[in-house]
Amino acid sequence: MAANPSAGPAGEKRIMCVGLVCLDIISVVEAYPAEDSDSRCVSQRWQRGGNASNSCTVLALLGAPCSFMGSLAPGHSADFIVADFRRRGVDVTHVAWQPRGDVPCACCVVSATSGSRTIVLYDTNLPDVTARDFERVDLSQYKWIHWEARNAAEQVAMIWRVEQYNQSRPAAERVRISVEVEKPRQELLQLMGLGATLICAWAEKGADALGPNGELVHSDAFPPETLVDTLGAGDTFNAATIFALSAGKSLQDAITFGCQIAGRKCGIQGFDSIV
Ligand code: ADP
Ligand code: FRU
Repeated sequence: MAANPSAGPAGEKRIMCVGLVCLDIISVVEAYPAEDSDSRCVSQRWQRGGNASNSCTVLALLGAPCSFMGSLAPGHSADFIVADFRRRGVDVTHVAWQPRGDVPCACCVVSATSGSRTIVLYDTNLPDVTARDFERVDLSQYKWIHWEARNAAEQVAMIWRVEQYNQSRPAAERVRISVEVEKPRQELLQLMGLGATLICAWAEKGADALGPNGELVHSDAFPPETLVDTLGAGDTFNAATIFALSAGKSLQDAITFGCQIAGRKCGIQGFDSIV
């Protein structure tokens, strides 16, 4: 069999996350500052961010071969971002390089006292990936594709393509689909009807899930000894839950694993030692 550059070791199928990548400029402060004050932070770092991008980080740390699909525009931020994806072993073949627009950038204030994260995101003029871009994805390489809801009409068309593909494949070869709807935007509601299992994370209250047959399951959160940094907790939960479901775990076990890994993430800065 010919070597397949986009599959994992031994031809293992990949998980793809489609959505945002941005540059997070994170200032860790002792306590959240007052408006119009002038203070020093404890530490500062650049971090690759964005929900789909963070979920890829976590999938890679969990040992799952994964790919990111989202938009970038050439420049310093993109160089930093691509180098970081590569460092984590995340495949970037399907990044959509845009000839114009700015790479999104977020100023994030993480409070070391409460673990809270306050985000101000600049994400205005970089075009999103389209259904046309997605046509270039060889679906046979993937076992799971996750969308972070953004440009919903295009994303519906992408999902439609996967559903068409699945119809002609035996169950074991079908690509499983998940969608994260985080923002309460009317346009995103069209993506809600596409899910057969509903999963909802509730920060320190853990997570609930409703299976296709009405099965309702809950996991408590696993709070770390000290809450340090909750930036990307939801993205971590999503990745860990998808990882477990894609490995055949039950819905209950999957959300419990999601909460465990997300809890660990909340106890450290960044993602480095979540596993
Ligand atoms: P986000 O705001 O990043 O989308 P959520 O608040 O939905 O994330 O939380 C996702 C998961 O992270 C939760 O289900 C929980 O397991 C974990 N988590 C988040 N905040 C806390 C917290 N304060 N204590 C313990 N676990 C937390
Ligand atoms: C965390 C995150 C950050 C980013 C912001 C975008 O969930 O993805 O990395 O700055 O949210 O909304």
